[in-house]
Amino acid sequence: MGLSNFVYMMVFALLTAGAPLSYAWGVDGHYMVCRIAQSRLTSAASSAVLDLLPSGANGDLASECSWADNVRTAYPWSSPLHYVDTPDNLCTYDYTRDCHDSSGNAGYCVVGAINNYTTQLLQYPTSTYNLTQALMFLAHFMGDVHQPLHVGFTTDAGGNSITVYWYTTKTNLHSSDQVSQWDACGSSSADCANNFATESIQDACSYAYKDAYQNARLNDTYFLSRKPIVETRIAQAGVRLANLLNQIFV
Ligand SMILES: *[C@@H]1O[C@H](CO)[C@@H](O)[C@H](O)[C@H]1NC(C)=O
Ligand SMILES: *[C@@H]1O[C@H](CO)[C@@H](O)[C@H](O)[C@H]1NC(C)=O
Ligand SMILES: *[C@@H]1O[C@H](CO)[C@@H](O)[C@H](O)[C@H]1NC(C)=O
Repeated sequence: MGLSNFVYMMVFALLTAGAPLSYAWGVDGHYMVCRIAQSRLTSAASSAVLDLLPSGANGDLASECSWADNVRTAYPWSSPLHYVDTPDNLCTYDYTRDCHDSSGNAGYCVVGAINNYTTQLLQYPTSTYNLTQALMFLAHFMGDVHQPLHVGFTTDAGGNSITVYWYTTKTNLHSSDQVSQWDACGSSSADCANNFATESIQDACSYAYKDAYQNARLNDTYFLSRKPIVETRIAQAGVRLANLLNQIFV
């Protein structure tokens, strides 16, 4: 067993120890996205972010980047804002067609949420909205929109319903896809949230879902071949979050 195998085994030992898997696992990816982002802020954006962060954050944006996952129960309306489901196997994303919650309310998907919280933050420093929450939501959703399985197939609920096996350990595709998020770095250019979602569904089809059919037995070939994709997506999310915040706080 190589070192990387050992790391994956540790990850799965941790994952299987507690539920919900995808939230617990997502903390590391989101943390890295926000660390990358905060290091790239202009002084104006940096000041605004420090001003808006709750005092418990001690000025560290990354420490609040999973806040949105922690309030999914308290704010049930926010749950559909973490992802967007697209028609099975179509491998395309369309805002009008896909960005809604299960009751059909338009805008209730990750792309609509990014636009919503961007608009709110543009009112800084005064708004009727809680801009501390707007910042924490935006920082989180910019990570989510870059995760291939947060832009996934409708009947699969973002990779959570396809059961796969890593060697013999039963897990779900969402958590196994995110294994490689432990490592990161790279760079990319800014673009709009719709494009991020399109990239993610393309990655989901080309990499994440590919070979991970129902009850598939995933091995190192699967994980190691996906690792660069996940690293790139984390780096892109961090760079793009910084660009967005730099444009908002001028
Ligand atoms: C926009 O943000 C507000 C405040 O958090 C929230 O009540 C509303 O549901 C959000 N709408 C969307 C589409 O994200
Ligand atoms: C804004 O939201 C934060 C985080 O939930 C909370 O601690 C703070 O009290 C809220 N501020 C106001 C004015 O409601
Ligand atoms: C991993 O699984 C794939 C598909 O079942 C197989 O083609 C490949 O040889 C396997 N690789 C290793 C290292 O076991």
